[in-house]
Amino acid sequence: MIDFESFFSATQKSALAKHHPNLRKALADHYHEHGRTQEWDTALASMPDIEVAQYEFSEDRISLTLPKSADLDIELFRSQLKTFMPWRKGPWQLLGVSIDTEWRSDWKWNRLHPHITPLADRKVLDIGTGNGYFLYRMLGDGAKLAVGVDPTRLFLYQFQLVQNLLPPNNAHLLPLGCEHLPAFDYFDSVFSLGVLYHRRAPVNHITELLSFVRGGGEVVIETLIVRGDEQTILVPEDRYAKMSNVWFLPSTAALENLLRRAGMVNVRTVDVNQTSIEEQHATEWMEFQSLIDFLDSDDHSLTIEGYPAPRRALVIGNKPG
Ligand SMILES: C[S@@+](CC[C@H](N)C(=O)[O-])C[C@H]1O[C@@H](n2cnc3c(N)ncnc32)[C@H](O)[C@@H]1O
Repeated sequence: MIDFESFFSATQKSALAKHHPNLRKALADHYHEHGRTQEWDTALASMPDIEVAQYEFSEDRISLTLPKSADLDIELFRSQLKTFMPWRKGPWQLLGVSIDTEWRSDWKWNRLHPHITPLADRKVLDIGTGNGYFLYRMLGDGAKLAVGVDPTRLFLYQFQLVQNLLPPNNAHLLPLGCEHLPAFDYFDSVFSLGVLYHRRAPVNHITELLSFVRGGGEVVIETLIVRGDEQTILVPEDRYAKMSNVWFLPSTAALENLLRRAGMVNVRTVDVNQTSIEEQHATEWMEFQSLIDFLDSDDHSLTIEGYPAPRRALVIGNKPG
């Protein structure tokens, strides 16, 4: 099992320390043995013991470069990385192996980056961080602390194997749900990318996000939306794009109203984007179905269920100071 002592020691002299007992309890309550824990622990332990000479967190793919002196069986390493499939968020270039992930997460980053408060010296929380791809983009942007939370165990292992190749740094991933976190009232920037539509109670999710950020801090939300006015919200009858856990797709006007009513100020939609089959696609590293299989084969403007195809908005606002 992976432990989280590096997070606790990195934050023990900060105002986060007063939340350590709650976080330790949440980990004790929710971080249990998983069906594949032993397989993944064994695979993680057999990964090459190499600390990279160079890394790049600010290119389209996150690159970790093999030191010249290191001796690596690249085909063995590639097969070890495949133990941790599916790789959904990336892309990555790890010691010469290119991981072509399901998502071009760099495209999402490029859409949001011009609009956010620059992250230099900021303490950042990324809710639903997946394997932490964005945590490294945040460090690349100068964040002094980048904490991600995500309950999906495979993604924690993907993050940990990257961390094991890197020198100690300020990215941390806790395998918790956002509903397990205390009201930190601490982070300068809080991100919730691709999470809101999965939450059964969207207003509660916004309230949670506001409880994590400090007064005056920034909240960045990316979520599925539909076209329409402030009176438009789609609640799928059953599945949406084959997903059974999509609850709520508002128009941007309805979403902005919701955010304001939940207490955010300075709310604005900064980007709207139709998700393309180039941005989300099956690859050698994610062999399951992907966006093209979730769309009407005759009309890509519709999902297979006949709803508008995935369209995403980025909305930014602040907690009152
Ligand atoms: C659609 S993915 C988005 C990943 C990433 N933020 C991005 O934008 O590419 C949703 C993520 O939310 C995570 N998730 C699911 N339930 C969650 C919860 N209760 N709290 C935090 N994250 C959750 C999933 O494990 C998954 O990694």
